[in-house]
Amino acid sequence: MKNIETPYYLIDESKLLKNLKKIKYLKDNYGVKSVLALKCFSSWCVFDLMRRYMDGTTSSSLYEARLGYEKFKKEVHAYSAAFSKSDIDELKKFSNKVIFNSISQLKMFYTKVRNLKIGLRINPQISYSDFDLADPARKYSRLGVKNYKSVLDISHLLSGVMFHCNCENENFNKFSSYLDHISKTYAELLNKLEWVSLGGGIYFTKDTYPLEKFGKKLKNFGDKFGVQVYLEPGETAVTQSAYLVTKVLDIVHNEIDIAIVDSSIEAHMLDLLVYRTQAKIENNKNGKYKYMIAGKSCLAGDIFGMYNFKSKLKAGSTINISDAAGYTMVKKNWFNGLAMPSIVVKRLNGSYDIAKKFSYKDYIQSLS
Ligand SMILES: Cc1ncc(COP(=O)(O)O)c(C=O)c1O
Repeated sequence: MKNIETPYYLIDESKLLKNLKKIKYLKDNYGVKSVLALKCFSSWCVFDLMRRYMDGTTSSSLYEARLGYEKFKKEVHAYSAAFSKSDIDELKKFSNKVIFNSISQLKMFYTKVRNLKIGLRINPQISYSDFDLADPARKYSRLGVKNYKSVLDISHLLSGVMFHCNCENENFNKFSSYLDHISKTYAELLNKLEWVSLGGGIYFTKDTYPLEKFGKKLKNFGDKFGVQVYLEPGETAVTQSAYLVTKVLDIVHNEIDIAIVDSSIEAHMLDLLVYRTQAKIENNKNGKYKYMIAGKSCLAGDIFGMYNFKSKLKAGSTINISDAAGYTMVKKNWFNGLAMPSIVVKRLNGSYDIAKKFSYKDYIQSLS
């Protein structure tokens, strides 16, 4: 958009809708409920749309739980690796479900939240993740309870459990074998429960994913144990629905051409740096102009990647970085005091809303 100053995240509601329709398809045809994982995407400027297709939100902290309650206004699932007493005192006022990460936390806070639905995260000791950093079953993992007998001992206190053991899993057969493992291993527990959340990390909105098979698999699981099945989609709910729009500020040369844009991978697309993956920028294989696209922070490795372009870049050229919805806006930061990208929404009717602009005032207020 010509009249919006770069950089900005551009959320396209019609692209988001493609994912949301698949989520709703699972609900309508197979009874699977989905709660948005706010850790991935908390941009409440599009919650009016998302609310119509999803059942609520799940959270990793008190603030996320509160955001879900205030802005999404449907079911609120509150989970945290560890709650403080004050977290519990606050979140019990508006959460529907509290999911504890350990039996010690469950015992510590049970009496305070006994009127809510109480869940426990289980560590099934299997996982699908290409990244050790995001592997919930890694050695010494603190995420969820491993000891099954100890869970059975307190199962009368639970209405449900949560298993989150996938990360970017687009392989239905792998998912299916994990679910079989869970069914077999935890049958006695599952038979006593009302609901089971299978967490996030399943890429079921991808065009190639066998959605119908997935739905049937989940329905069979729910029917077998008489439980409501939940998913906690983050990335798959918002995949391919946003761009980070940037502008080239300068081109420098050090053996190769390097285009410096008015954004930063460290500040605005941090996950790419953490997981060492290249930003998605249209790469024209036959393009004869090759550039490294780099950020404007002082960090030497602030690099989005290497790409070929059909025409020469110059100061003022626009560079769109795609797939910029999940784990981007929730992680942006004020590193180097760089201007924070605005959040712009292309609505379903084609109009553009500048949902949020940040200024020097926001920067200075984030510090003291
Ligand atoms: C407990 C839990 N639920 C849901 C999610 C969302 O996962 P994703 O964004 O990969 O779908 C995560 C991600 O780490 C998680 O830890």
